[in-house]
Amino acid sequence: MARKPVIKAVNLSKHYQMGTMLVKALDKVNLEIYSGEFIIIFGQSGCGKSTLMSLFAGLDKPTSGEVFVRGENLAELNTLQLSKYRRTKIGMVFQQYNLVPNMTSLENVYLPLAFEGISRRRRIKRARNVLELIGIADIERHTSSELSGGQQQRVSIARAWVTSPWIVFADEPTGNLDSKSADEVLRLLKQLNQKSKRTVILISHNPEYLPYADRVVYLKDGKVIRISGKIKGATKRRKRSELESLQGVGKTAAQNLQKAGFENMLDIASAKEEDLAQVNGVSKKLAKLIRKEAQEIIVAREGFGEK
Ligand SMILES: Nc1ncnc2c1ncn2[C@@H]1O[C@H](COP(=O)(O)OP(=O)(O)OP(=O)(O)O)[C@@H](O)[C@H]1O
Ligand SMILES: [Mg+2]
Repeated sequence: MARKPVIKAVNLSKHYQMGTMLVKALDKVNLEIYSGEFIIIFGQSGCGKSTLMSLFAGLDKPTSGEVFVRGENLAELNTLQLSKYRRTKIGMVFQQYNLVPNMTSLENVYLPLAFEGISRRRRIKRARNVLELIGIADIERHTSSELSGGQQQRVSIARAWVTSPWIVFADEPTGNLDSKSADEVLRLLKQLNQKSKRTVILISHNPEYLPYADRVVYLKDGKVIRISGKIKGATKRRKRSELESLQGVGKTAAQNLQKAGFENMLDIASAKEEDLAQVNGVSKKLAKLIRKEAQEIIVAREGFGEK
């Protein structure tokens, strides 16, 4: 079984009819992104970067082609499932910070958890943990008008992170920042990616950021013209042994889990039990146990990974 991507575009196109002109904002894009990668979607203004992101995020529908998230076709989700996907499986960061002006940093960060049936006490705890992780615990009581642009963007990153999403999209997150704050935001995204193994997809036209990426997807006129960098294969061995540390998971089951797209603790923690149980060598009982154990490990590691 081949390794499964966390998100995948198949012949993805988005066309706009502008009077007599047909704008091919995206033109038959094929792309596979794997769990834990730091990807930069790079290209000049108008090449289709934000269009690709809105299709990945299910904010817009393609003219043709498909988006699969962990094997599920977004087009086949009903309204409820799609809104759950947007709320809990992805996080988004934009050039505009979009914070609620009269709320404190802490309130802005725990807001996305309000719809998830989590008690207020736990919401606050998780929001605090993520503020701490990001290094801005000291501004938890400040409202956004009291914060610098860089601080506001950190709060918005914390807000994107707090739901433990599979993928965090950042569309030109440094567009409004001076170069020092911009570098800090980039470094923060990279650190979070490395620490939590969450997939980060950064959209940028700035070539200076390219060294941060594991892989760079070059877009031009709606087409992928090149993908540079390597899919992280070198870390496979380490990731496998991470899964092998789970009670009852031997080498073969760890390999099978990895092949099925469950590559690290976060993947196991956020998977559905029935999906884990479909993997060769993983019984229903084991699926339940390892999911619980992985959640505990994630909570211990990040303080806010519980679902
Ligand atoms: N709603 C729309 N209606 C018509 N054309 C659109 C629409 N949205 C995007 N386009 C066109 O699709 C193309 C791709 O736009 P997109 O916003 O994805 O580019 P981008 O790479 O994000 O650019 P930028 O770097 O300036 O943000 C552009 O030619 C744009 O004008
Ligand atoms: Mg854009």
